[in-house]
Amino acid sequence: EWCVSAADSSRPSIEALTKAGAHLKNNDTPVAFPTETVYGLGADATRSTAVKGIYSAKGRPSDNPLIVHVCDLQMLRSLLGNAADGQEITLPAKYKTLIDKFWPGPLTILLPNAQPSKLAPEVTAGLPTFGVRMPSSTLALSLIKLAGVPLAAPSANASTKPSPTAAHHVKHDLDGRIELILDGGPSQVGVESTVVDGLCDPPVVLRPGGISMEELRSCPGWENAVRAYKDHSEEGKAAPRAPGMKYKHYSPKARVVLYEASYNAASDGIVSADVESANVTQNGHPQNGDEKPARRVGVIRTQRWKAAAGLHVQNWREASPVAMEVDKSGYEVYTGDLVGASGHVIGELFDINLGKDTKGIAQGLFAALRELDSRDADTIFVDGIDGELDIAAAVMNRLRKAASELRS
Ligand code: TXA
Ligand code: MG
Repeated sequence: EWCVSAADSSRPSIEALTKAGAHLKNNDTPVAFPTETVYGLGADATRSTAVKGIYSAKGRPSDNPLIVHVCDLQMLRSLLGNAADGQEITLPAKYKTLIDKFWPGPLTILLPNAQPSKLAPEVTAGLPTFGVRMPSSTLALSLIKLAGVPLAAPSANASTKPSPTAAHHVKHDLDGRIELILDGGPSQVGVESTVVDGLCDPPVVLRPGGISMEELRSCPGWENAVRAYKDHSEEGKAAPRAPGMKYKHYSPKARVVLYEASYNAASDGIVSADVESANVTQNGHPQNGDEKPARRVGVIRTQRWKAAAGLHVQNWREASPVAMEVDKSGYEVYTGDLVGASGHVIGELFDINLGKDTKGIAQGLFAALRELDSRDADTIFVDGIDGELDIAAAVMNRLRKAASELRS
């Protein structure tokens, strides 16, 4: 069977977990499992053949390292050993405060890789460090415990696609490529873990995520932590430090147009001219008797429905709202006719409202991008949000990548 889940409770049975744990020990095809951030695609991090299975299922370039997931500190210590110079590797003091405060949870730390390494070389992709985290999802922790080995796990999407925040997102991307998906319901955080490097001074954040810069800086030794990921205007300058950042990422099929929060939305917003002139890329369908393809436009709002700020689409006729089918988190999709300046219907509009609560936006973002893909939107307009210190930083980072033509 495909998804091992109790149909109504969305909590896999102990039998399903045991089966998945045994599968991870004995097979080379990865298992998809829920974490609090996004769904992961896990394999025994100590066996090369198993780790190679992840790269082939995802279609992921093999120079992009994977995060190792542990269920307790004993398992973490089992990965430390001696450094290349023979010195024993111990957990740096700087990490102890982070581990105390944020583990289990959405934080990945970099540690020196032991010599000889306890990890399959494919996990670190040739780097002298490895990334590791202890997820807070009970299902994830139980699975690692049952497998008895650390699990290497990237997000369980096909390479370049938005990360999966529900089991059926995984099924959509990887059907036929993997055998087991543990269904734990929608992911709570909705964006990936924060990746930090505390081996350098000052310590750096390599990827914004579920733990905010503000939370990090509140820890001793992390007051001066700096951002080392490239974002918006900085793209394309220095060589990326987190190798994943140089690849196309979080991309739906549609072209994504991001309206940064600083955009003067109150006076401009998205006017019908923007929508009409939006390039139809790959999914435009010809309309009855019309040479021009009909627009299929998606809108993702991050403000309350009909609030003054944010995206404002003129000239469309609203049909009744329908619930977003992708999850049960209560997001709504409004659908309606898109009406051109001439008064003719020029296409369809799908309007998703993620609300203004930043946590809720993070939770629903990837699902919304996927939902609009499933409706064949050719262009998606997204309302940006403010805030560089909280989880908004992670949301905007993902959106900027999805919207970036260069996708650096
Ligand atoms: O929340 C998450 O972190 C999810 C869930 C499944 O745990 N996992 C995830 O993995 O997002 P992935 O493979 O999609 O992203 C891993 C990120 C990449 O940006 C990668 O470059 C970085 O972590 N990374 C891993 N090991 C690294 C290392 N040794 N040095 C620098 N960056 C590293
Ligand atoms: Mg990923």
